[in-house]
Amino acid sequence: VTRPPSISVDGSICLRPWTTDDVEPLFDAVMADREHIARWMTWADGDYTIDKADEFIAACLAGYASTTSLLDFAIEVDGAVAGGMGVPRSAVEHREYEIGYWLTRPLTGRGIVTRSTQSLTDYLFRDHGAHRVQIAALAENHASRAVAERLGFRLEGVFVNSRLNRGEWQDMAWYAITEDEWTVRPDA
Ligand SMILES: CC(C)(COP(=O)(O)OP(=O)(O)OC[C@H]1O[C@@H](n2cnc3c(N)ncnc32)[C@H](O)[C@@H]1OP(=O)(O)O)[C@@H](O)C(=O)NCCC(=O)NCCS
Repeated sequence: VTRPPSISVDGSICLRPWTTDDVEPLFDAVMADREHIARWMTWADGDYTIDKADEFIAACLAGYASTTSLLDFAIEVDGAVAGGMGVPRSAVEHREYEIGYWLTRPLTGRGIVTRSTQSLTDYLFRDHGAHRVQIAALAENHASRAVAERLGFRLEGVFVNSRLNRGEWQDMAWYAITEDEWTVRPDA
């Protein structure tokens, strides 16, 4: 079984593999304000149930056991599940990885996802062989785009009408940074 490592972000934030004990905490973190997440993430739209949380955790554990390239982390803040961060789509043969994230509403606006994304990007470049790291956000998702922009990811393009979100075709903004750019950025 190959589990992702735990990545310490700072004294209170940690990225760590999901465990079977996380089903209820995951459900609670989503349900603290489901609409906040469902507005942008299809998996939370419609009914979100404890069974869905259970299925997600089971899929993560199965993924850990079957591949070394899949990465799915709980964002833990002060010892409690606060959100999720993962690398859902990758082209491993090209050493290209894409980071995705969500955070329970009550903890937003404190830089938690910016700092977590910084740590995961560091990990991907330094320890996971990444050459290029991407972030994709619906064009109207300003909070998510701000995370990419704050970390120096470059806006490479806006894919017009490329995602169906809540019955509407929406644009997707694609950001990326390469290994050489990451290591020479001002706050490296
Ligand atoms: C998008 C999302 C993940 C952002 O998470 P977050 O932790 O609130 O993001 P951050 O706190 O890092 O950045 C947001 C704000 O915190 C502020 N902030 C506060 N302290 C900060 C610090 N120490 N470092 C960086 N930013 C800080 C930033 O200035 C920013 O404020 P602004 O948006 O008013 O400019 C979260 O809103 C979310 O889960 N949304 C719903 C799901 C979603 O859209 N996921 C992404 C799909 S692509």
